[in-house]
Formats: sequence, structure tokens, C-alpha cells
Amino acid sequence: MSKPLRALLLALVLPFAAAGASAAQASDTSSAQIRTHPPGTAIASGHALATKAGMDIIRAGGNAFDAAVAVSATLSVVEPISSGIGGGGFFLLHDAKTGKDIFVDARETAPASATPAAYLDEKGELNRDRATNGPWSAGIPGLPAALVHLAQNYGRLPLKTTLAPAIRLAREGFEIYPRLERGYASRRAVMERYRGTRAVFLADGTPPMTGEILRQPELARTIELIAEKGFDGFYRGETAKKLLAAVKEEGGKWRIDELTGYQVKEREPLRFRYRDWDITTAPPPSSGGVALAEMLQILEGWDLSKLDEAHRHHVIVEAMRRAYRDRTIYLGDPDFVKVPMRRLMSLDYAAGLRATIHPEKATPSELLPGVPAPLEDDETTHYSIIDADGNRVSATQTVNLLYGSGLVAPGTGVLLNNEMDDFALRPGTPNAFGVMGFAANAPEAGKRMLSSMTPSFIESKDRIAVLGAPGGSRIITEVLVGILGYDEGLNAQQVAALPRFHHQWMPDAISAEKGAIGPAAVSALEAMGHTVNAAESPWGNLQTVSWNKRTNTLEGGTDPRNPVGSAEVVDSRIP
Ligand code: GLY
Repeated sequence: MSKPLRALLLALVLPFAAAGASAAQASDTSSAQIRTHPPGTAIASGHALATKAGMDIIRAGGNAFDAAVAVSATLSVVEPISSGIGGGGFFLLHDAKTGKDIFVDARETAPASATPAAYLDEKGELNRDRATNGPWSAGIPGLPAALVHLAQNYGRLPLKTTLAPAIRLAREGFEIYPRLERGYASRRAVMERYRGTRAVFLADGTPPMTGEILRQPELARTIELIAEKGFDGFYRGETAKKLLAAVKEEGGKWRIDELTGYQVKEREPLRFRYRDWDITTAPPPSSGGVALAEMLQILEGWDLSKLDEAHRHHVIVEAMRRAYRDRTIYLGDPDFVKVPMRRLMSLDYAAGLRATIHPEKATPSELLPGVPAPLEDDETTHYSIIDADGNRVSATQTVNLLYGSGLVAPGTGVLLNNEMDDFALRPGTPNAFGVMGFAANAPEAGKRMLSSMTPSFIESKDRIAVLGAPGGSRIITEVLVGILGYDEGLNAQQVAALPRFHHQWMPDAISAEKGAIGPAAVSALEAMGHTVNAAESPWGNLQTVSWNKRTNTLEGGTDPRNPVGSAEVVDSRIP
């Protein structure tokens, strides 16, 4: 890492040092033996109440998967701006008992009504209101099915126990924080179209304000039904009827069999190697793992620590550009389209792409229309867990844009997602994140929309880390920067704080947080032909935990950009 970058990193980390957590067990290192189990549990999430809910479940005798259910459901209650049981997510699991890694795909699916034509206006242009607001923007939710799947297949405790913290917080309420208030203000015009949404967010007649308590009694009842009846508590019976009625009332079309037929899918995670690290990450319908593999396998050709700041950014950006181009063209739901995985994951392909990178010159992206990706960090959320048995969870969940579709189904408290915008609803037209797609990601009944969510594990001889982030199309580059940070030997809190930069092929420009690239390097990059937006507001919300197998140290890292996030480490096994 260059000196300016390191100085900036320290400036970012120091004020927030208390936000991270670590449990050092041993001071000497090199000769210490490799441990087979962590000393305790580490959890990092986007909200302290969710991290605490997870730790409480560990204290109650649960494992990492039980804790994941508690964290996930609690985030659904206290971060409705980012994720919820009306949305979906990806859960990467490591089951220490079997040694297996499992990817649980709980992505939303398209209802049959969601044909491409349904999203075009009379001029054949994308109807952006339909794509991002209200019932047409919502896919069939996957998160409730994932909670049930995790509890039934991997947990030790009943859902009644693991969902209890979320039910209590929904019923008794929690304190509204600035991000919720700000996000509501920006989505207010849409949200207040819907009576179910008004009943939750305007219950006292005024919009949510920081410091007030938000109570969601109907959501509490809906989660209680999942705790009592499992899958049927959401996808059949009273909740399902109310969801269908809400979609119909607002002019959309869902069928009951689309709810009853929803299934989570267990998929084989992607695996590849970068330097000393074995990386396990998200397969399609996430684009994250493939793009991450392409980028890191391209970058394997350089010793990044030996490059000056400008050239380091140059080669990383050129790797990003190439991976995002492939994302746009080839990736989609593998149950519907043939994704050329062998090619995209191959070292030879990466070597070919590497050879096209000029050491001193930017490669111009093709001149296709692009729009700037919005600066956002509030959509989507991630949490990371390691427990004392060595189980791991890396989970990213979402309702897509701020407060999803804005539509709460009356009587349920369930805020529906607006994930349909992650499909290429109109080929070649950028979505809200400024990324495009073509046939591979066109909507079809039952298909899962392409995602950028990249929950990941990385493992070297000495260290294991669990990481992931929200950030729309920027998720993948956030995770990339995090992995490069771990590779440089940073601790979990430093990794969460790292300055960010991003390139997604289109638009053809580098986005960088203010100060992430020093002024001299910006000038050098511009001289190579890059466009650099070097003073963007901070983005992202990376949550990570790590375990050093040699020092037997657990660490948590929570993104200092999110003041309500938290990382907790309990450094002893809880009986
Ligand atoms: N909705 C953001 C993503 O899945 O990539």
C-alpha cells in the first residue's frame, strides 16, 4: 500500500477503533501451532442490535447458523431501508462438522406477469417507475424461506428461539437513526402512495425522525407466524393472502403458486486461489464471485506492493473494467441461461485479459450509453460470523434500493423489495446502479435476477476471514479492496475502513472516495487516459470477522462509515 493510502487508512480507522473488536490470545506468532477451532465467536453486522441478537443466541447454546437467523431477522426489523423478509439474500456457510461450504441462494424470483414488455412505456423506453416502485418492481421474496432452511438444516435451536429477538424488537420498537430518516425523506413520495406503508411509517402522522421509536407490530406477528409454522407461515395462509391482495390492490399480478412454489437453492460456491488465499464465494445468479475471480486472477500477474500508487490503481481498475464488461454480457440465472463458467473462471482467460492491459494507458470502454451509478451505501446489508466450532456464515441480504419498492403489504408489516430492477428489463439500458445487461439477464417467470452480492470466505495457512458488503454494483469492488487489504496483512477493522475506488466498465470513469487516491496519482492516472472522479462521498458498509489460526485471535471489523454497525468478539467458548 502506498504511503498516502496508509495515512488515509489510519486517519479513517483511528477515530473508530472502538467500533471494531478483537481478542488477542497469544503474542507470539510464528512458532505457534495452527489451531483447529477459534477461541470463541465473532459477529459483525450493520446494526448493533442485530450483532447483539446473534451473540445472545450463541449464549443460548446456538451455533453460527442459529445466530445468522437471529441477525438476519433482526436486520430485517431494524434496517428496513436495506433488507427485510420481503426481500432476499445469499448465505455462504461453512459447516465445520462436515467441512463443507454451502451457498444458499434465497434470491427473489420473477413472477410470470413480469415480461419484458410489462416494463416498457408507450415509446418502448424503460418505465423506471414500474421498475423501481410498487408491486411490479417486486420479486417473490426469498428471505423467509432461507431462515427456515438454515434453521431446519444447519441450526440447533428452534425458530421460536432464534426469531424471538426480531419479534420483540418489531413489537417493542427500536430507536430511529439518521440513515433511516434520510432514506425515508428521499423515498417519501413513493412510500406514501401506499396505505400499508403509511400505516407503518406515518403511524403517528409524521415521517420517521431520529430518536423516535419505530414499532412494527404487524411485522412482529408475521415473523411470529414463521416461527410457529415455518415456510407455511409466510408462503401460505394469512400472510400469503395479504401479500397477494396488496399486490393486486396496487395493480400488480402475483399468483399463489408463485409463493407456495418458492424454493431456496443450495448451490456449489465458487472457489479459486489468489496468491496465498483460497477464496470461496458467490456463484451465479450472483455476478460477484465470477467478477471477483476474474479481477484477482488478472491481478495475480503483478506484485501490487511493488507498484507505485498510480500504477497500482491503473492495473486494478483495468481488471475491474474487464470483469464488469463480462458481467454485463454473460451473467444471469444459471437455471435459465448457460453462463460460460469454465472460460470466465479459467486462469488462461485471465492471462489473456491481462495481456490486453497496457502498462501506461487506460483502455477506453466501448462507447455505449451509461449513467453514473448512484452514490449509495444504505441499500442491502451484510453480516459475518465465525463461531467456536469453526462454523462460518457470510450473508448479504437486500430489498434492493432504499426501502425496496416502498410498498408495505397491509396487515403484514412486510415491505416488498424492488429487485426486478436488477434484471435487464430493457436490454442495454442501465438500471438504477448504472449497470446494464442483455439476454442472459432478461426477466422470465421463475428466474432469479442477477445480483452483485458477494458474501465470501478467504483462507490462508494462518488466517480465515469472512467478508461482504452492500453497495449495489460497487459490492464486488468493495470486497476486492477488502481481500487486497487482508492480503497486505491488515486487521479486520482496518479492512472495513479501507478507502474505496470503483470502475464498472460503463460509465467509463473511476469513482473514488475523497482521498482514496492521492492528487499526484490522480494526475498520473489522468495522463494515462483515465477519467477520475476523485472526490466522491464515502460509500459501502463492509462487515468482516477474521480468525488467526496461529495466534488464535478473533477479530471483528465494522465499517466506520456506518455509525450503527457493530462487531463483537467473545473470546471464550460458551458452554
Ligand atoms: N440488489 C443489489 C444486488 O443484488 O446486487
